[in-house]
Amino acid sequence: MRVFAAIFPPSEVREALLRAARDLPSRGNVRWSRPENVHLTLKFLGEVPEAELDGVRDVLTEVCARYEPFVAETTGFGAFPATKKARVVWAGIGEGGERLQSLAEDLESSLEGVGFERENRAYRPHVTLGRARGRPARLELPEVAAQGLKFTVREVELVRSVLGKTGAEYATLAAYPLSESRDQGS
Ligand code: 2AM
Repeated sequence: MRVFAAIFPPSEVREALLRAARDLPSRGNVRWSRPENVHLTLKFLGEVPEAELDGVRDVLTEVCARYEPFVAETTGFGAFPATKKARVVWAGIGEGGERLQSLAEDLESSLEGVGFERENRAYRPHVTLGRARGRPARLELPEVAAQGLKFTVREVELVRSVLGKTGAEYATLAAYPLSESRDQGS
């Protein structure tokens, strides 16, 4: 099955991000994500045979247990590959970005240990909000910085993605708490 590991911000953050993104001046056709689908990917695994899922689950349990919950804050909007030729419209992450990088890197290394290929692109934490339909869209980003939305990252979800005609359907297979306690060892 097709799976990825991701963080889902609370619904009010997902909805506020989509509302603000829809208001961005743009030329072109963007298909906005459904609010329930808005997430921050840590690692896209792709097709994983059923027999290998247990290894993935063990890695997630083990890596997440090394972290304690932390605050993440969205920053402005951006686009891949470029704002004037947007294929993917996203919200960036300011505060909490380094923690996300580190979590993604730890997952990457541990998953490599159980036979998954490393991602060859640098990890850039972002929350995908929409994708261009057909030709790339041209986005005009406001000069004023977008208002940051803060949320606490408490768990990582292992998600199954089923691609359909109207976009992807996601189903959470399991959630892994960031469970390291500050008091540990003291
Ligand atoms: P994106 O939204 O930035 O494209 C599920 O598809 C999630 O995995 C998405 O958040 C997607 O990130 C991410 N992802 C990373 N690499 C991918 C790939 N090669 N194919 C599909 N999704 C990928």
